[in-house]
Amino acid sequence: MSLRDVSLTYRSRRGFLGLQRSSFDAVKSATFSVRRGEMVGIVGESGSGKTSIGRLIVGLERPSSGSIVVEGDRDQGILHLTRRDVQMIFQDPQAALNPRRSVLRLLTQALEATGTTPSAERRRIAERLLQETGLPRDCLHRFPAELSGGQKQRVNIGRALCAMPQIVVADEIVSGLDVSVQAHILNLLLELNRRHRITIILISHDLAVVRYLCARSLFMYRGEIVEEGATDVVFEHPHHPYTKALLAAVPPETAEIARPQLAASIVQ
Ligand SMILES: Nc1ncnc2c1ncn2[C@@H]1O[C@H](COP(=O)(O)OP(=O)(O)OP(=O)(O)O)[C@@H](O)[C@H]1O
Ligand SMILES: [Mg+2]
Repeated sequence: MSLRDVSLTYRSRRGFLGLQRSSFDAVKSATFSVRRGEMVGIVGESGSGKTSIGRLIVGLERPSSGSIVVEGDRDQGILHLTRRDVQMIFQDPQAALNPRRSVLRLLTQALEATGTTPSAERRRIAERLLQETGLPRDCLHRFPAELSGGQKQRVNIGRALCAMPQIVVADEIVSGLDVSVQAHILNLLLELNRRHRITIILISHDLAVVRYLCARSLFMYRGEIVEEGATDVVFEHPHHPYTKALLAAVPPETAEIARPQLAASIVQ
């Protein structure tokens, strides 16, 4: 998938009777490609346009200019991605999960759009998703209020997987979770990436997480991609002043603590 010169301008009306118009350039001329099966990190300060890029990729926003194209995969012929093939997992599972739906119904929600899947089949798929996301079997008939934060996020991930996506945009999916739970959830993403060759675009504030999971990373600053490349190279030799400042601001202790913990859990 390639973004070519993609910009996104949010327009809104303000003031008395909404007569005053205002616009904001959230993404400015973004150009980058993601290859099948890659895990790419997007980093940047709050408001830099990370979520906006994610929303463009999954089709929740249309580019104000530029284009997003899916190119042919050499092994598979031309790939035609539909909305279901590109899924976004949001930061706040609480908000994403309807509190009145059971885990079974939440996990298999993607099947509803396509019509009638027999209930036995639906249950089988839900059980597979429970297993895939590491949720206990007895979760199936529970409601979101009866799950922990980490479990809710697993349901959220399972729900995206039900559509058998080719590309998953994971937007700050571990912020607010306990460090050990974070490691498990990230580990799960890595597993899905490796096992199913799902392309993952990981949006995160956490530089240590991106460094250890993503082979490639992008840095955003005020709507622009200011740095892009192999994660090792970018982290070791940043060019843009913003990237330099951001990397220099990471307290060494934090990076050191996060690394072994994450690495250990990924090796498991
Ligand atoms: N619907 C909208 N209308 C107008 N402006 C918006 C809208 N959504 C986002 N913005 C603005 O666009 C900019 C980029 O927002 P975006 O959500 O992409 O940032 P972000 O990098 O994801 O930030 P965070 O790390 O805080 O989630 C911000 O300045 C935000 O205020
Ligand atoms: Mg965001």
